[in-house]
Amino acid sequence: MHDFQYRNGVLYAEAVPVTDIADQYGTPTYVYSRQTLEHNYLEYTQALQGHDARVCYAVKANSNIAVLNVLARLGAGFDIVSVGELERVLLAGGQAKQVVFSGVGKQTHEMQRALEVGIHCFNIESTAELERLQQVASDMDRCAAISIRVNPDVDVRTHPYIATGMKENKFGISMAQVDSVYTHASKLSHINIIGVDCHIGSQLTEIGPYLDALQRLLELIDRLQDQGIAIRHLDLGGGLGVRYADETPPSIADFIAQLLQLLNGRPLQLVLEPGRSICANAGILLTRVEYLKTNEKKHFAIVDSGMNDLLRPALYSAWQRIIPVRNDIAGITRCYDIVGPICETGDFMAKQRQLVLNAGDILAIQQAGAYGFAMASNYNSRNRAAEVMVDDSQAHLVRQRETLEQQWAHEQLLPHE
Ligand code: LLP
Repeated sequence: MHDFQYRNGVLYAEAVPVTDIADQYGTPTYVYSRQTLEHNYLEYTQALQGHDARVCYAVKANSNIAVLNVLARLGAGFDIVSVGELERVLLAGGQAKQVVFSGVGKQTHEMQRALEVGIHCFNIESTAELERLQQVASDMDRCAAISIRVNPDVDVRTHPYIATGMKENKFGISMAQVDSVYTHASKLSHINIIGVDCHIGSQLTEIGPYLDALQRLLELIDRLQDQGIAIRHLDLGGGLGVRYADETPPSIADFIAQLLQLLNGRPLQLVLEPGRSICANAGILLTRVEYLKTNEKKHFAIVDSGMNDLLRPALYSAWQRIIPVRNDIAGITRCYDIVGPICETGDFMAKQRQLVLNAGDILAIQQAGAYGFAMASNYNSRNRAAEVMVDDSQAHLVRQRETLEQQWAHEQLLPHE
């Protein structure tokens, strides 16, 4: 379910024609639906009702403070991977005690700030990091609550860049090593073990690998229990996939139901870190066709968004649906490569799409709410796009289009001789 639908030939975001948004704010512009965001988040909390659980939205998927604020108002927790994400959460009204801190490379200053504001838990990914946290916590005379991220070595069928739970990945601590790391952690004066953690990958469309990972974590929890190490929470990470093309991921409700079945009433808090499944279908990217161009082999539609705005097609060969914002335009259907203005062959939004197009048309790239703006850059010295959040009949600008002056505000010339 999402709130981008045609009415009388025009694409609407909730009750706002997206053509109005393009007229007012220009293109490329990301448009988010508050209702879809809320719906997706609430599908998690409703499925978890009656169970001790915490849904920590993975900020990396879309870190606009308005998005975080919508979720914070619903009581969401947050999964962060940097102090920047932590400050965004706090700015957006999120609660520090609802934050879990993931990532393999936490720096000292990031640990300090997280301890200072009192986050819920650090997800530890190596012995070296554990030692660092012990030192930082001891210097601050604080106790750091931790989970250890286990690499459960389960095979997931997803793009290799976003599979994280196999031995060859940099993430977590292997099953063979993790017991002894827990034993070590249990002896550290300023470390308080509260949980176990894993995250096996992203855009996962099958439940099987999650159940395998969960089973391995439960066995670990039992072994730790035998050693006198009590575990209160089990963090299964994020990763539930969405439908970009013809994938058939389980619904959030089905996914949760199967996890709860395997948990079988154990007195553990279930923590989840969903990103994509909350915000992907809550966003579109509006882009305008600048030029049409045809050679002996192909039809190209050159649009005003590029890989700097939406990197997923270039980086992962990701397929995202592209639809015209007016679907009542007559013309000849042709097979287009939709390409950006950037000087790289990899700069495409989509390949071989059957569309009726004219220069000046506006297109909507769907499922762009996750890892869209969040991965945007200034490559080719292009300003980053505007972001708009629709709330029923209101369209709110939640990030102004960047200006050229903002782009180079932090650069400096060398001094004159
Ligand atoms: N927790 C951890 C520790 C993670 O590393 C991630 C994602 C998540 C949670 C959220 O996963 P999600 O529910 O969004 O799948 N840029 C890529 C995706 C990278 C995912 C990185 N980690 C893409 O555009 O497909």
